[in-house]
Amino acid sequence: MVPTAYAHRFAQLPPYIFVELDRMRAEAVARGEDIINLGIGDPDQPTPRPIVEALIEAAQNPAYHRYPSNAGLPAFRQAAAGYYARQHGVKLDPETEIATLIGSKDGIAHMPLAYADPGDVVLVPEPGYPVYRSSALFAGAEPYTMPLRRANGFLPDLDAIPDAIYARTKIMYLNYPNNPTAAFAPRSFFEAVVERAAKHGFIVVHDAAYLDVCFAGEPAISFLSVPGAREVGIEMCSLSKTFNMTGWRIGFVAGRSDLVAGLSSFKANIDSGVFNAIQAAGAVALNQFDRLVPQINLTYHDRVNALTAGMAALGWEDYQAPRGTFYVWLQTRGGLTSMEMTKALLQKASIVVVPGLAFGGEGEGFFRMAMTTSATRIAEACERIKEAGL
Ligand SMILES: Cc1ncc(COP(=O)(O)O)c(C=O)c1O
Repeated sequence: MVPTAYAHRFAQLPPYIFVELDRMRAEAVARGEDIINLGIGDPDQPTPRPIVEALIEAAQNPAYHRYPSNAGLPAFRQAAAGYYARQHGVKLDPETEIATLIGSKDGIAHMPLAYADPGDVVLVPEPGYPVYRSSALFAGAEPYTMPLRRANGFLPDLDAIPDAIYARTKIMYLNYPNNPTAAFAPRSFFEAVVERAAKHGFIVVHDAAYLDVCFAGEPAISFLSVPGAREVGIEMCSLSKTFNMTGWRIGFVAGRSDLVAGLSSFKANIDSGVFNAIQAAGAVALNQFDRLVPQINLTYHDRVNALTAGMAALGWEDYQAPRGTFYVWLQTRGGLTSMEMTKALLQKASIVVVPGLAFGGEGEGFFRMAMTTSATRIAEACERIKEAGL
């Protein structure tokens, strides 16, 4: 059989660099090694009980067994509006300014397909979630890298983007609190973004997947809470990380009404929405935010404290302890590349991390640890790093 070639839009994606790492990890597991997995960005704790119970009840409602509406269940969108008003001081119309998504990835990935043409530029932060770049490429648009450097607080340098690029820009992706760097954006940065977007007429897509995963000090700022933001952009929100619901596939888009409607009507050609019972349970989650979320965030805070204590014992001080997300972004040691560092941690300490290169070339020289395992295991990981002489 002659293999059928991928479509050009798929074949142009960068090659998958993790094949060898995956093989090494599988071999270590097969050898029976006690692996500490700090690689995955997927909460290890179960979804809180009240949400699961709400789903069990909702699943028995025959009205929910039919196709969901394109924009989403009204009760879910109302709960999302209530959450925004309470947590972020942003008043949104649930009818026109909010629509349900199959996780925030759904909205992130479809925006360029709905709004960017060949020749248009999509501004992509790097290191970053790889979906920004691949969805720009799928749309035939031109991704333009905005490097996130430590010296600039892992914020893009807006002045470094040439006017000729701004002139062709259709979409700018941003993501704060940031995966993988755990950086937060100050209000002044969002204000500068709004000014540029208004001047050059591009759409700001703020990936807010970690907006409420905050555990030390001030909460993170919603982009939509900045004056003028609602005229230029939208926020992609997720229940995945906030409520330990990654498997449920539910999130929502919020912000400028024509963009919310445009994304929903594009998606109507591709999917048929989120099971209404999941949306009903999602509404319970959002309505009980104050009861459910602080406890989850406290767990991450304990884990980060375990890591910082372990790192201090190792003499690793050149990193920022996160105050949100559950990621720690670290420089490699001894001049190792991110892949070499990742392999060394796996081979010498049975620890899985993600090499910075996975988040694009600008991630080289770094690696990411996720606090998605217990504080005890995190402390043990630090011990192993010490013993391995890394
Ligand atoms: C930065 C970022 N954005 C978006 C997502 C997608 O999350 P979901 O589709 O589960 O809402 C992830 C998931 O890991 C992420 O790390």
